[in-house]
Amino acid sequence: MPRHVLTAVAWPYANGPRHIGHVAGFGVPSDVFSRYQRMAGNRVLMVSGTDEHGTPIQVQADREGVTARQLADRYNRVIAEDLQGLGLSYDLFTRTTTRNHYAVVQQLFTTLFDNGYVVERAQLSAIDPSTGRGLPDRYVEGTCPICAYPSARGDQCDNCGNQLDPQDLIDPRSRIDGQVPQFVESPQFFLELPAFAEALGGWLQSRQGWRPNVLKFSENLVADLKPRAITRDLDWGVPIPLPQWRDRTDKRIYVWFDAVIGYLSASVEWARRTGDPDAWRPFWDGTADARYFMGKDNVVFHSVIWPSILLGASGQPAGAPGPLGALQLPSEVVSSEFLTMEGRKFSSSRSVVIYVRDVLERYGADALRYYLAAAGPESSDTDFTWDQFVTRNNTELVAGWGNLVNRTVSLVSKNLGAIPEPGELLGDDVAALEASKAAFAPVGALLDRSQQKAALTEAMRVVADANRYLSDQAPWKLKDDPARRDTVLHVALQLVDDAKALLTPFLPASCDQVDAMLGGTRPWAGQPELVEVEDLDGGPAYPVLQGDYDTAAVWESRPVRVGQPLAPPTPLFRKLEPSVVEEELARLEGGA
Ligand code: MF3
Ligand code: ZN
Repeated sequence: MPRHVLTAVAWPYANGPRHIGHVAGFGVPSDVFSRYQRMAGNRVLMVSGTDEHGTPIQVQADREGVTARQLADRYNRVIAEDLQGLGLSYDLFTRTTTRNHYAVVQQLFTTLFDNGYVVERAQLSAIDPSTGRGLPDRYVEGTCPICAYPSARGDQCDNCGNQLDPQDLIDPRSRIDGQVPQFVESPQFFLELPAFAEALGGWLQSRQGWRPNVLKFSENLVADLKPRAITRDLDWGVPIPLPQWRDRTDKRIYVWFDAVIGYLSASVEWARRTGDPDAWRPFWDGTADARYFMGKDNVVFHSVIWPSILLGASGQPAGAPGPLGALQLPSEVVSSEFLTMEGRKFSSSRSVVIYVRDVLERYGADALRYYLAAAGPESSDTDFTWDQFVTRNNTELVAGWGNLVNRTVSLVSKNLGAIPEPGELLGDDVAALEASKAAFAPVGALLDRSQQKAALTEAMRVVADANRYLSDQAPWKLKDDPARRDTVLHVALQLVDDAKALLTPFLPASCDQVDAMLGGTRPWAGQPELVEVEDLDGGPAYPVLQGDYDTAAVWESRPVRVGQPLAPPTPLFRKLEPSVVEEELARLEGGA
């Protein structure tokens, strides 16, 4: 039975181009997962967009001397291009500044308010004493009251991952001028998180297959819930949809409250754009498999805040569902750890950063995807090194998989010109074919559980076995036994074709190329397109990523086409000179 699978991908802040640390967390893993699920015959909806409100955007806009909206417009496009280049197969990659998003956010806010889960209360907020202006949470810095990390931010501690309020910080100071902020009382709306404690606890207890770190961390959070302010003193964000508040320009909905709702609003937008406005429902009605992909600093928002919003808006534990009905909680929060760069934590401000765009331009999408899938931070912090990047590219992609395709296809095209019929299969042939066919089930099961490193290792084992088969059988020595040579080449082509399918979630562009070399006429793996669309409700036009992923790719061994003419192979990957390592390290030191 095909399942409905929602792939909910964390929304990147529209405050700069993406670096490889970002896409290691949310990007490549969510795409590998979605591509596998589609190949396995499931109905996938993969949504995300740029996260454009709140202080992260305002901070960067101030730095660049533009308005928040201008900044968001600029980076929405830049980021969409980065993600497109990487081949991430979004069904819709949109943004949080659409009218549709505003409407869905306000609907959920109103339902939560009506159900009594959003309440108004006075809260201390920070003021910069020199300017008298409100200091957004991120502008306040100090020592974390939980782990004593000295440069925690007013919204969150990057060291222990806990959410904070600026007044919790020890020795608070303004990040703008170092002054000690004043705290004054001001009304805000709070999400009553303690009301959801029991439901959240039960939900977490029923989760299976989560990464242990993520589950443990989430359970600890749920053990200690406090009401959380979901509005801020800021003019950039979604207006508060209540009579006395709607027209105020000094208070807005908190960026994290609006951003997580993006998963739902983007699903609704996608459905509206397909012409069937209800098409989003099977992805949210409780029967879907809803997987959320992110880096570990996002876990609290997905395992506590978002489920609480969903519960409260569904009328749980009390109240009535809003106009969108009861809404499904995440099936799994899939979180990656951090990627460091040559031993240092990624930070765009300290310019220890490698931009996605640069890697794509110099080395291609599949080389980067391969590295991140093989050596990324799936379950522990990992370090990106150029040395390893070059080594993996040259040994695993070029000398391993690329060489298998190249040797096999060129032997056939040179000697036979077309895919040969096999003669009698010998024991070695049968064993090789069976082992490769048998890989689909375990590799698929690993991908379904987001154990992508293990899945890739298994798929690459099939490649290594196929290379060994070819070397052992040495068809180039069988000139005097053409029947046996044809059999070996037929088997080798079948092994290539199987490996192509197994590697497609990781390497969609190059596997598509392999499919075409073997005579495929339909696109094998779809790629995202960047298109300009009208806002559905009369706002300004904007670019989105979407795509047709209903392609030929399937998750099973399919017999190769006997008689299919084969042209000489085109190279799949490029061998990198060792000098690349020094060049890249020099760029990094230079901050370029
Ligand atoms: N913009 C956030 C970040 O980059 C992630 C938001 S995920 C969302 O850390 F779901 F809330 F949108
Ligand atoms: Zn901390």
